[in-house]
Amino acid sequence: MSCFSCCEEDDIHKASGNGSFMANTPASNTGGYGYKAREAVTRDPRPVTIQPIAIPAITVDELKEMTDNFSMKSLIGEGSYGRVYYGILKSGKAAAIKKLDSSKQPEQEFLAQVSMVSRLKDENVVQLLGYCVDGSLRFLAYEYASNGSLHDRLHGKKGVKGAQPGPVLSWTQRVKIAYGAAKGLEYLHKKAHPHIIHRDIKSSNLLLFDDDVAKIADFDLSNQAPDATARLHSTRVLGTFGYHAPEYAMTGTLSSKSDVYSFGVILLELLTGRKPVDHTLPRGQQSLVTWVLLLFNISYSPYLHNNICFTCNITIVDCIGQPQN
Ligand SMILES: Nc1ncnc2c1ncn2[C@@H]1O[C@H](COP(=O)(O)OP(=O)(O)OP(=O)(O)O)[C@@H](O)[C@H]1O
Ligand SMILES: [Mg+2]
Repeated sequence: MSCFSCCEEDDIHKASGNGSFMANTPASNTGGYGYKAREAVTRDPRPVTIQPIAIPAITVDELKEMTDNFSMKSLIGEGSYGRVYYGILKSGKAAAIKKLDSSKQPEQEFLAQVSMVSRLKDENVVQLLGYCVDGSLRFLAYEYASNGSLHDRLHGKKGVKGAQPGPVLSWTQRVKIAYGAAKGLEYLHKKAHPHIIHRDIKSSNLLLFDDDVAKIADFDLSNQAPDATARLHSTRVLGTFGYHAPEYAMTGTLSSKSDVYSFGVILLELLTGRKPVDHTLPRGQQSLVTWVLLLFNISYSPYLHNNICFTCNITIVDCIGQPQN
């Protein structure tokens, strides 16, 4: 998934006077910028004034030229919402061009989201550089991450069978990446206006640039009902399995803390090099969080260290550590 959801009574209503267009924020909700947002959300039908889009529009012809007509050679990845191509923008900047799968999201709503994202600027948040709307076609051009995603680096290219991880990261690199991610999240939660809950923090949405600068990508602004209650209690859980905060998975209640939990899962990935969910591992180890909690309990629980297992006659902690039959 990925995407964008705002978590405050936001600027959409407050922004007035200098808006370049009106968005009527209708009920359809077919995706944000990483596009997994498809839950029904109560929307306020009142027209809202949107601030101008702060990035250039790009035509389909220009995009075709940049990507060699969307050739396989230019393809750099594929997510659940479409393919991603490499291209050089008119400005000379390298870009990752996301061709979004066909969406029924109304154009004005899409443009309202582009407007909001276009004004987000932080050194640890991936910058939107351009956009294109042409009939049902939608494209977003983001700054190009020269070192791919953290997922690709730790676990191999996502979705590519047999893909190998990149060179092992040093501890210094890992700390720098974690710090960048934390700063990016802090920006979204505390400094961006309106504040943003990302909703899909995961290693494939943490992109790596030169010198191990990490930037957060693909937040979802699709669920931006002006009514905060509707926004924060959507009827369907978004995000990605393995990264969900338990309370979010169980109740669908969103808060910035859900993002912080997912960030914690990324930290565990950075520390262990393991995927959040890995079905190739033995049972009991497949969920990274559960496995780490077990290790933590084993290391620190006085009960496990001080009590003897009746069957084996050794401490419980040693008994747990024994191979299973
Ligand atoms: N800005 C970028 N710079 C460089 N590579 C990128 C960029 N954005 C995406 N990619 C590459 O394209 C792949 C697909 O990205 P996309 O965001 O569409 O999906 P995802 O985050 O991997 O997964 P999902 O769609 O399930 O959330 C990424 O894994 C990454 O390798
Ligand atoms: Mg992504």
